[in-house]
Amino acid sequence: MSDIERTASRTAVLVCQGRAAADGKVAAGRFADAVAVRLLRPPERAPVDEVRAGTPSTGWKARATYEGVRACAEVVVPRTVAIDDALRSHGTPQLVVLGAGLDSRAWRLPELADTDVWEVDHPASQQDKQERLAEAGTPPVVARSVRFAPVDFATDDLGRALEATGHDASVPTTWLWEGVVPYLTHDEVRATVRAVADRSAPGSALVLNYQGPSVKASAGRLIARVLNSSVTASEPWRSLWKPQKMAALLAEYGLRVVSDEDLLAIANRLESSMRGRTSLRSGRVAVARRA
Ligand SMILES: C[S@@+](CC[C@H](N)C(=O)[O-])C[C@H]1O[C@@H](n2cnc3c(N)ncnc32)[C@H](O)[C@@H]1O
Repeated sequence: MSDIERTASRTAVLVCQGRAAADGKVAAGRFADAVAVRLLRPPERAPVDEVRAGTPSTGWKARATYEGVRACAEVVVPRTVAIDDALRSHGTPQLVVLGAGLDSRAWRLPELADTDVWEVDHPASQQDKQERLAEAGTPPVVARSVRFAPVDFATDDLGRALEATGHDASVPTTWLWEGVVPYLTHDEVRATVRAVADRSAPGSALVLNYQGPSVKASAGRLIARVLNSSVTASEPWRSLWKPQKMAALLAEYGLRVVSDEDLLAIANRLESSMRGRTSLRSGRVAVARRA
């Protein structure tokens, strides 16, 4: 196994499995991601098929994988719906997806036809995605263009990487930061917000998914680590944010929060089985605008 294979994000695969499992099954009509399954390799598709069929394999390990994918599907549906809605209502000529993982929006959202997309991710995760895209027979890009900028938020200069790949800081940008903040320290989050603000022309917006403090969610991850898995063990949570603290940080850099909702409130508006899942309460989707 190469270094790349060892360090590519496994949580990126898990959330992609969640989207593939939910496609056409959960909140149909509001949620869809037909591209997700194509980014998965055959062994990763097996638990997705089981969740879609509602037939877990026997054995505690397979059962734990099944439950992980099933639970993940419930989290990704409300967050994807909220983020897709936000992207549709904040159309800008540029979209930067921070910590893109196996995000499929550039291949999935026709509303991006006039938008240039930058996918920023850890170099190992990005190389893994590019290999998957090459293997997948993925549908054509529907965005105007997609460019890849490898960046480790802990060590690299985000602004310089974007400049080098043609991002124009004088043109409005929508920034998407989904499922990444918990994996960064407070200082790394602050440094990334600063870099985002530095390249945000008036009219720019940040669409942000983050995790609030929650005993239930932290206990769930602990149980998952004991039962399952190296997936959560290899990518521990490093920062959880109360909404007021996040809003204050963004405001310091001229980004004004215009909405911030928890995933349970979003799920409760969807026609689906996730209504009432209180574990969704600690995940949040916020939108901030360049003041
Ligand atoms: C749970 S995945 C989310 C992926 C995608 N945004 C989604 O929601 O499907 C976490 C992502 O954060 C990225 N990430 C974590 N730490 C990072 C770092 N220090 N620098 C760059 N990317 C990082 C991983 O590479 C991975 O793609």
